[in-house]
Amino acid sequence: MLNGRRAQLFLFNGSLPGPLFEARPGDDVTVRLDNALGEPTNLHFHGLHIPPAGNGDNVFLHIEPGAAFTYHFTLPREHAAGLFWVHPHLHGSTARQLWHGLAAPFVIRGDIDAVPEIAAADEHILMLQDFEPDSQGALAEPSMPEQMLGREGSIITAGGAINPVIPIRQNALVRLRLVNASSSRFYRIRLEEHPLHLIGVDGGALDAVHSVDEILFVPGQRLDILIAGTRTEGSFRLLNLPYDRGMGMMGGMGGMMGTRRSGNEPETLATIEYRGRAERSVNVPASLPSKIVSLNATGSPPRTFHLGMGMMSGGMGGGGMMGGGMMRGGMMSFTINGQEFDANRIDSAPRVGTVEDWLYINDTMMDHPMHLHINPFQLLADDGTTERAWRDVVLVKAGGQVRLRVAFNDFAGKTVQHCHILDHEDLGMMATVEMKS
Ligand code: CU
Ligand code: CU
Ligand code: CU
Repeated sequence: MLNGRRAQLFLFNGSLPGPLFEARPGDDVTVRLDNALGEPTNLHFHGLHIPPAGNGDNVFLHIEPGAAFTYHFTLPREHAAGLFWVHPHLHGSTARQLWHGLAAPFVIRGDIDAVPEIAAADEHILMLQDFEPDSQGALAEPSMPEQMLGREGSIITAGGAINPVIPIRQNALVRLRLVNASSSRFYRIRLEEHPLHLIGVDGGALDAVHSVDEILFVPGQRLDILIAGTRTEGSFRLLNLPYDRGMGMMGGMGGMMGTRRSGNEPETLATIEYRGRAERSVNVPASLPSKIVSLNATGSPPRTFHLGMGMMSGGMGGGGMMGGGMMRGGMMSFTINGQEFDANRIDSAPRVGTVEDWLYINDTMMDHPMHLHINPFQLLADDGTTERAWRDVVLVKAGGQVRLRVAFNDFAGKTVQHCHILDHEDLGMMATVEMKS
């Protein structure tokens, strides 16, 4: 049940979100997937630095209905501590399988968790998901324009609940760890009358606390935030503020768009409520233990990826899960360097042990949050300096460009990069990356 409405969801082990995975660097991880869906699926371990082949983070697998598969990998001893997540990744079905609820958090513990102030904080891991059940509880398939924009639901859950209450004590800290596990929805996050003390992003902890009033949070990303109990009492809403991720091109189709997109009003994701006070006051830590080493310049020109749109070729390998009622003939596709995804074509082949600069150029009028599997990256500023953060999703705004630097370490094999608006991924905006030893 979602908000008193029936909803037919797909779930890991019957829970929304799926069960919490918790591990330490160096651990062996074994995950058995029993596919009880009536359709093929697989798993992606979003953000983990593990082998992309075999029983590792292998998104080219098709696990058929009724079949089982055992994923098995060892986390590197130097793996970053942070919040990662697990979700299906079968091309053509990814958006709808997440839309039905399949997502689970995967925490790796380390130095950051041992900082006394952080260890003392009450931790809440909140997967943000959105749903749109019809009166029968079925999750409607999006219309063609909705799919092209990226589907969004009017019901938002945080940690599987609608507007959960998160207790905070005066003078204590709450640690909010967020995953944007929505198929397409962006969140612009603000907490009423409290700054957000950011201590980590996608790939792990920052090396300093960044205190900000709001954060734009795009699909696939994670945030690690401390909230300080600086008030004495009251309730404060964690808000999702309006954001336009680029709808201009769809203007002429307005009448077909339906009403379930992000509105112009702030939405409440959760409520922070004061309950009592801490006996001993705990402040936001003055420093963090993480050391972020800047990747060195390569000297080579960047590998360039143009993000674009085209007409669907109709040759989608492994299609069939694209949803009913779609007018395939007039369907737009999303492209990288002018091409739709083809699992059998190698689009880039970096050498293991090398560092590359990548340049994304967004030729469309919509934002695209781009995600690279297996190896995290550092963003490059205009002056060539690297951001002191490890990320695996970066927003490339409509008409904009982004540069990043990535080290292809440790693992050979084929993986992918793609837009994490998962309808765009399913409609072609994905490319292979084969790391060569
Ligand atoms: Cu992902
Ligand atoms: Cu996109
Ligand atoms: Cu992916």
